[in-house]
Amino acid sequence: MSLKTTTFKRKGILLAGGSGTRLYPNTIAVSKQLIPVYDKPLIYYPLSVLMLANIRDVLLISTQKDLKNFQNLLGDGENFGLSISYAIQDRPEGIAQAFLIGEKFIDNNQSALILGDNIFYGSGLENILSTTSAQHNESTIFGYPVENPRRFGVASIEKGKVISIVEKPEFPLSNIAVTGLYFFDKDVCSRAKQITPSNRGELEITDLNLSYLKNSNLNIHLFGRGFAWFDTGTPEDLVDASVFIKTIEKRQGLKICCPEEIAWNKGWIDDNKLFRLAKNFQNNSYGQYLEKLLKEKH
Ligand code: TTP
Repeated sequence: MSLKTTTFKRKGILLAGGSGTRLYPNTIAVSKQLIPVYDKPLIYYPLSVLMLANIRDVLLISTQKDLKNFQNLLGDGENFGLSISYAIQDRPEGIAQAFLIGEKFIDNNQSALILGDNIFYGSGLENILSTTSAQHNESTIFGYPVENPRRFGVASIEKGKVISIVEKPEFPLSNIAVTGLYFFDKDVCSRAKQITPSNRGELEITDLNLSYLKNSNLNIHLFGRGFAWFDTGTPEDLVDASVFIKTIEKRQGLKICCPEEIAWNKGWIDDNKLFRLAKNFQNNSYGQYLEKLLKEKH
């Protein structure tokens, strides 16, 4: 008897539009997701999360104005062993709109969506992401305890199952925020088409999650207190994230969410490629770090 294994592809969407008004004047001329968080642009962090989930086919969605800057930074993704394509979201009409814009790209595959301003860090993250990503016909969101749940979609959980999700509740039923990382089965685009805009005129990701909750299955993975999750919408958030990244990186001598390193570790780029990339940043610590990886290879 032969063991039949089916392989499937999970596609990744990086949603990096928005107007970034809470960061004005920083974000008048440049996208929030291109602003540095310590030693690399913010977009490197969510891109790395998709890579850690073994996703190599990525659609980056941003505004018409900002798209060319992302293309200048990331190109076709080849430097990171990826294929990156691009699409425009004219106006910030909601996170779930990504699945209307990305329908052709997803092409009836399973997918993951991450917001361009979300940073995740913690021991075992790669294992959690790659396991979730490999699950067939499952949809999973991630919860994280926060001090001020009113700012977020808030999940109520009983016996490990999601009972309800409420967007920005005045009286939150729990302190578990739904983070900006979502894994969906292949029905996501048709479900997104059923959603109607909310009072604030957005196709809400919470409504998409509720659609799964209502007549399908929605898993939740709770990140514990050993994890860090930042969404970097305000100047304070950005500084907090930068200080956090700097503190850990300086202490360990290891970089957080360095896409070149992740691609190299996964065998998506070879030693020669990494060497050439390191040469691009020869006069700074980022390039020296990439060179060090090669020297210390054993
Ligand atoms: P938000 O922080 O809700 O919005 P924003 O980035 O426009 O900022 P502000 O509130 O300061 O004006 O967005 C969260 C993330 O989702 C961010 O990375 C931008 C992205 N996003 C889109 O790309 N398109 C959208 O329609 C929405 C609602 C968000």
